[in-house]
Amino acid sequence: MLVLEREGLGRLIRELCDRHGRSRPALLPILQELQETQGWISDYAMQAVARHLDIHPVEVYSVITFYAFLNSEKKGRFVIRLCRTISCDMRDKDRVARQLEQELGVKFGQTTADGRFTLEWSNCMGMCDQGPALMVNKQIFTQISPERAHEIIESCRRIYALYPERSEDTALEAAGAVQVLAGPLALEARS
Ligand code: FES
Repeated sequence: MLVLEREGLGRLIRELCDRHGRSRPALLPILQELQETQGWISDYAMQAVARHLDIHPVEVYSVITFYAFLNSEKKGRFVIRLCRTISCDMRDKDRVARQLEQELGVKFGQTTADGRFTLEWSNCMGMCDQGPALMVNKQIFTQISPERAHEIIESCRRIYALYPERSEDTALEAAGAVQVLAGPLALEARS
């Protein structure tokens, strides 16, 4: 990481700690904001947060690995998560999965070489009657067919060209997302 980047990140973490407090309950909101603004939480960020909160970096790491929406690795600008739980499975999620892999040229668990897309599996996101369901970042899309998966990827590509910063969620709503995942579901623990 460049020195300037590190200084900027250090400043951001100081601001977050000033705003949320420097006690253990502040850890999760600080990490959520870091995730939102940076797209992931680096080793450097983990150590800086731990230092400000006077806790061990392992504690920060264990919180990040517990929650599905906190990443300790850099992921694509668009993280596409396809539900693989039983209702979506029975509604032919495999066809959608094949389309996504073919379209993006990566397998589940991988990120495209240009850093735009990460493909992941998800567990139930509460849309079982409208499956197959998938999420792009925090936006949920339902009743996904291979054709719809293609359209969503094309929307993401257009959004990438239009929005240089990470402000794509509103644009995704326009692409047909049915719900922004927030609250407890957004903090769904990894299984
Ligand atoms: S089983 Fe896929 S959303 Fe519930």
